[in-house]
Amino acid sequence: MRARGPQNQPFRVSHVTPIDRSRLRRLLADERAAYAAAHPRSAAAYADAHPHLLGGVPMTWMNMAAGGFPLYLKNARGARVTDIDDREYIDFALGDTGAMAGHSPEPTVEAIVRRVQDEGGITAMMPTFDAAWVGADLARRFGPPVWSFTLTATDANRWAIRLARQVTKRPKILVYAYCYHGSVDESFAVLENGRVVAREGNVGAPVDLAETTRVVEFNDVEGLERELAHEDVAVVLMEPALTNIGIVLPDDGYLAEVRRLTREYGTLLIDDETHTFSAGPGGATRAWGLEPDIVTIGKSIAGGIPIGAYGISRALSDAIYADKDADIEDVGGVGGTLAGNALSLAAARATLEFVLTDEAFEGMIDRATRFVEGVNGALEQAGLKWTVSQLGARAEYRYADPPPRTGSESAAAADTELDDYLHAFLANRGVLITPFHNMALMCPQTTDEDVDRHSEAFTEAVSALTG
Ligand SMILES: Cc1ncc(COP(=O)(O)O)c(C=O)c1O
Repeated sequence: MRARGPQNQPFRVSHVTPIDRSRLRRLLADERAAYAAAHPRSAAAYADAHPHLLGGVPMTWMNMAAGGFPLYLKNARGARVTDIDDREYIDFALGDTGAMAGHSPEPTVEAIVRRVQDEGGITAMMPTFDAAWVGADLARRFGPPVWSFTLTATDANRWAIRLARQVTKRPKILVYAYCYHGSVDESFAVLENGRVVAREGNVGAPVDLAETTRVVEFNDVEGLERELAHEDVAVVLMEPALTNIGIVLPDDGYLAEVRRLTREYGTLLIDDETHTFSAGPGGATRAWGLEPDIVTIGKSIAGGIPIGAYGISRALSDAIYADKDADIEDVGGVGGTLAGNALSLAAARATLEFVLTDEAFEGMIDRATRFVEGVNGALEQAGLKWTVSQLGARAEYRYADPPPRTGSESAAAADTELDDYLHAFLANRGVLITPFHNMALMCPQTTDEDVDRHSEAFTEAVSALTG
């Protein structure tokens, strides 16, 4: 979800065009003033909410608002949202992928109403027919044949890690520096002079992360082999491309090396497709022919109704059931009371069957390509050496050239002030991108005209910056 790097790192001049800081601060102050003037109702609602909400918001990351306070949602449909000041936006943030199917897609809404109103029964600890349909469809899309459900992608990762530890009898997991996989305690680790340390700002680590976690840089084959050679890693938890520290794409052949090495050292491999699902109907796993032991996913697959899922190989499923030490039905606590509920699965079935279809992805990816072209045109015109990366229906600009190859390189190119300026500028012109770094995602209803609105506003934003 969020992944800011070290705050306001000085630019490395060899990588990016230097920006006039005092000019940037003046522009940001102007945009914040315009934002405040345009949103009196959101400002008042935010002020009133403070006494009884932690941080004044339902969830603390909603405070990552470039304009100074969050916009309150009035309604949303397709690629559009409207705030309580009646201002409409083209939404490229799409709930940071939770709404990749578009806001309130009709088939999903119909299935929800059918389940909740016509049939009745939201959660009952009883299976419904939708579960087997969704399991089969996820198997068709991503490969692993056996699926289980959670309520969030975070939980899918947590449960997959527990099962991996149980089956391999190994204690550690391996992650990539500056990854994000939800609030999985083991994963908030980075490298400092080759040592595993907690990432700056981590909250409430239960133990020293070096005890639970090995960390490598993305695209570093040698580092991965060195760490796996300890033969204490139960599972590598990775996104096939990092998406939470900008987009960091894999080098040619890198993911094949990850698979080869994990097999060689007896380590399981999780592809977390929560965001990389944007690569196509079967995510990066299918688009790039990957063969993970486990796929985890969440966010978008039920059109925004909470759900997560993990898919495993038949061999892993057999190993879990063969292990008589593990009680996966009761004491082991693999599960959540509301997981696999009737509503989540009705929504997932409709979303997968009718909304996030192969045809829909074609259009979404075309729009993202147009988005990238628009951004490149604006950067060229402004003479800015930044770069933009695309992952199917997702695109992101980063203040670095060439594009970063590791999470740490990408973190070093972070610039919160510049992010805030661009986000506030775009919001003031009716365009939303994610409130952390610069991610834009296309949903089935995003149009060429929507993309062009971003290109125009972005062109204006960067030319104001460079004068
Ligand atoms: C790759 C990845 N995995 C897992 C998660 C966790 O998702 P959730 O917060 O919905 O549990 C995120 C959230 O951003 C993510 O980006």
